[in-house]
Parts: sequence; C-alpha cells; structure tokens
Amino acid sequence: MRALAVYQLKGGVGKTTTVVNLAALAARDGIPVLVWDMDPQGAASWILGAEAERRQDGFWSGREPVSHYIQPSSLPKVDVLAADSSLRKFHQRVENKKEARLIVERAFSALAETYGLIIVDCPPMMTPQMEGVLKGCDRILLPVQPSLLSIRAYEQIRRDYDWAKKKQWLPFVTMIDRRKPDHLRWVQQELLNYPEFLRTFIAYSASAERMLQARNPIVEEQPSVPLARNYRALWKTLKPLLNLR
Ligand SMILES: Nc1ncnc2c1ncn2[C@@H]1O[C@H](COP(=O)(O)OP(=O)(O)OP(=O)(O)O)[C@@H](O)[C@H]1O
Ligand SMILES: [Mg+2]
Repeated sequence: MRALAVYQLKGGVGKTTTVVNLAALAARDGIPVLVWDMDPQGAASWILGAEAERRQDGFWSGREPVSHYIQPSSLPKVDVLAADSSLRKFHQRVENKKEARLIVERAFSALAETYGLIIVDCPPMMTPQMEGVLKGCDRILLPVQPSLLSIRAYEQIRRDYDWAKKKQWLPFVTMIDRRKPDHLRWVQQELLNYPEFLRTFIAYSASAERMLQARNPIVEEQPSVPLARNYRALWKTLKPLLNLR
C-alpha cells in the first residue's frame, strides 16, 4: 500500500480535482483506493458522493479505529474517509507533528491489507500537525500553477519542509493556459530552474467546472476531453514512481 498526499500551501490550485481523478484512474487499473479527505471543506468527499456519516474527531482523539469512518463512494473500488466540519478542531485534538504522524502511520498500517493506494486531500495550510500527516505519507504530489503566488508557496514548502526531498516530492505544473504569454514563458524558461518537476502538465480547462456540475471525475464523465487526457498522462507518470503495477 502506498500513501500519496496531494498538498499545496496555496489554495485553489487543483488539489481536489487531482485527487478525485487519480482515484478514479487507479481504481480503473484495479487498485483499491481510499480517498482520505482532510480538508474541512469536504470537496473531495462531496464530488465522490460520500458526505460524512461520522465526525473524524473520534478518530483523531483515538476513540475509534479508522475503519469506522470509511464509506463507499459513487465509484467502484474507491472508498472515502469523508471530511466533516470537526476537522476544524484537528489542531486542538492532535498535539504536535509527531503525534499526527504516529496517528496516520498507525491508520495506514491498519488499512494496508485493504487498499493499494491511499490519496490524502490536504487543506492548504502549513502547521506542525499538517507536516506530521505529510511525513506519514510515502509521496507528496504538489500542484503548482504558473503564477507568482503559487510558485512562491512552492518555494516556501521547499524551504521549510526540506525533509520532504527524501520522500521524493512530486511537483507538477497545473492550470497552464497556453493563451497566456506569461504561462508559456514560465514553462519554457523558469521551469528549467526546477528539474524536480514532473514533465506532465495539467492544462487550464472549463471541463474542470463541468466535472463539478456532474459530481464525477472528468476521467469518468468525459474521458476524451483534453483535461481527462492530461490526468491519464499524470497517472501514467506517477504509477511507477509509487511502485504500483
Ligand atoms: N485544470 C483546471 N482548469 C481550470 N479550472 C480548474 C482546473 N482544475 C481545477 N479547476 C477549478 O479550480 C477551482 C479549484 O480547484 P480545486 O478545488 O481542485 O483546488 P484545491 O487546490 O483543492 O482548492 P482548495 O485549496 O480550496 O482545497 C475549482 O473551481 C475547479 O473546478
Ligand atoms: Mg481542495
């Protein structure tokens, strides 16, 4: 079992869109997937048709095992640990980075027999507790928009979470709009300064909003549109990096 966190300090960069599409693609490859929604907004849970039946705080305070919180999603082979508003209190319930890491690692080992891949949809925040969760994951996938604020947020993560290099963090460019000269210039010139970036891009596309209206990942809803093709290419790149067959 591999645990992949999808994380960025900057909000609205396509983390949740990435989580649900990768989950659908992994499941199509026969891998049982758990989407662990750690963002109190609960967008991934909502898209996957799994609104929380139980509040995660019972899990974070150690009262109940993780398996009590898992529900099926609208997709075959994809389960969800749905977010709820009690996640707002995550930082009060969990004392520090070390405790957060231990809790998720214990949960991951309890789930290792059932799932081939756990994808954690992270909130856009940088706290010791969040850092602990990231440390418990095998890989960290970082969507970065070709915008100054998104790149600045990535630089901040790179500087403050320097341990993550060892985990082979996986940044990639998202929401690139080829009509924008700034975006093209960034990819053609600036990206050369970041050799660690995956060479797969997610284009800016109106299909992302349509996916929300359908409440279905784009790779399921409209598999032939460019955005779905982009996500299939990303999954193809990621699979060997996660040692998944
Ligand atoms: N490739 C894309 N092209 C255009 N719009 C996109 C793309 N990917 C996502 N979006 C849209 O951008 C918005 C934010 O996407 P999403 O919720 O996936 O980001 P996020 O990083 O998870 O946000 P948050 O930080 O709030 O959790 C949504 O309205 C989504 O439909
Ligand atoms: Mg999100």
